[in-house]
This record gives sequence, C-alpha cells and structure tokens, in this order.
Amino acid sequence: MIDVESISKSFDENAPYALRGVTFSASKGDSIAIIGPSGCGKTTLLYILAGLINPTSGQVRIRGKQVLCPLRTTAFVLQDFGLLPWKTVRQNVCLGMKIHEISKEEQDNIAGKLLLDLGLGSHSDSYPALLSGGEKQRVAIARALALRPEIMLMDEPFSSLDTITREKLQDTLLDICRERELTMIIVTHSIEEAVFLGRTILVMGPRPGTVKVVINNANAGNLSYRSQKDFFSTCTHVRQAIEL
Ligand SMILES: Nc1ncnc2c1ncn2[C@@H]1O[C@H](COP(=O)(O)OP(=O)(O)OP(=O)(O)O)[C@@H](O)[C@H]1O
Ligand SMILES: [Mg+2]
Repeated sequence: MIDVESISKSFDENAPYALRGVTFSASKGDSIAIIGPSGCGKTTLLYILAGLINPTSGQVRIRGKQVLCPLRTTAFVLQDFGLLPWKTVRQNVCLGMKIHEISKEEQDNIAGKLLLDLGLGSHSDSYPALLSGGEKQRVAIARALALRPEIMLMDEPFSSLDTITREKLQDTLLDICRERELTMIIVTHSIEEAVFLGRTILVMGPRPGTVKVVINNANAGNLSYRSQKDFFSTCTHVRQAIEL
C-alpha cells in the first residue's frame, strides 16, 4: 500500500542531508513504528509521506501512485496536536470535514460518535485550553479519524502523557486501527511504545537520517503483549539497535 523508495531530503545545500536513502514499505493494516535520535529526520519523513513536502530524490507511492500532494485518505496527527485554540473540541474535530464540505448533519454525527469513542463526550463544547494533555491528544486523533482515512501518520502522539494514560490511549488506538483496518506509521521516542504498536520497527541513525535496523515484531497489536516475555526481549533488541 505504501512504498517508500530511497527517499533523501536536503533543506540546504550547505547543510548535511536530513534524510538519506530511506526505503521501506507497508501493506494495508500494517503498523510501522519509527524510533531514532532527535533531529534524525522522523518528522521530515512523515511530512514527505503526507505529501506536505517533496523529497530531494526518491519517491513515495501509495497504492502505486506517486504522492505529490496531500491525500484525503492520509491523516496526520502533528507533533504538537495542531488544535485551533479559538475553536471548541467539536469544531476542531469537524475542521477537516468542513474543509471537504461534508454536510453539517454528517459532521455532527461523525464528530459525536468519535468524541464518545475517545471518551471526550463531556468536553464537546470546551476550548482546548481547558483540556489536559491527554484530552488534547485525543481531540487531535478524533480530528484525524473524522475523514475516515486509510493511513494514519502520527508524530509522537502520546509524548506528553503519564504511563497509565498513555497505555490506555495506545489500547484505544489499537482497537480503532484494527476495526478500521488502518495502516499506521507512528514516530515515537519510547522503546516500549514502538514495541507495543509497531509490527515493524524502523530504527533510524543520526542525521543524515537512514534506517539502520529493521526489526520484525509480529506480536505487536496484541493487547496482552506488554506482559509477555517476548515484549521485554524485543525492547532489549530495540535498545541495542539504537545504541549501535
Ligand atoms: N524546514 C526546514 N528547514 C531547514 N531544516 C529543517 C527543516 N525542517 C527540519 N529541518 C532539519 O532537519 C533535521 C531533521 O528534523 P526533523 O524535525 O525531521 O527531526 P526529528 O527526527 O523529527 O527530531 P525530533 O525527534 O526532535 O522531533 C533537523 O536537523 C532539522 O533542523
Ligand atoms: Mg520530530
């Protein structure tokens, strides 16, 4: 479904490349976790996958077609949520639908259901400033899901949360991805999160970002995985790969 072919990105000819020769692919329903040091190009890679910036060389293909601009079927949860502070939770969730001229009635139905599913029913009319970090993150996820995407790109979506809230949201995300057969690419700094969510884990090296190790992690996506022995051995494997 997604083919990333030898992507390189240079922002400035006098600076080192931000990304060099990144190649991987994902089938429908796959989940890929990307982990690597700060500044290695993870966000840049997601922007390229989203069609928001072009690579200097290489290409991204989705369902065989080169990505040259943002697609409605690809949703992007930004590193800092990207919520509009002057709009309520419901209005934020409806933003993409409004841009795509979906009828008001349908917007209300879709937003109402998502807000309930994500435990935000009582916050529909609140403004983002009144929400906790975890609630804001759920609003950003609801907004991304509202357009029924096929692909979810997520940039450190749970980074500011305590462990318990984070794990609950990871479980919710897994349920939604499974139910909708979403293809997910998630960037994280957490080894445990990468192992819990990524059926394939890409470990990137420092700038210029390359994929230095690919770890297959077939048990990801199983809610009981966190307490299994394999989980801990895969975490160790990822840690060693990061330190390589
Ligand atoms: N628009 C831009 N213009 C110039 N340089 C940029 C631009 N965007 C990113 N960079 C540079 O490219 C490199 C990769 O940045 P990027 O934001 O992709 O890193 P990251 O892996 O997401 O880091 P973090 O883990 O801190 O979020 C950095 O050195 C950054 O300064
Ligand atoms: Mg980043």
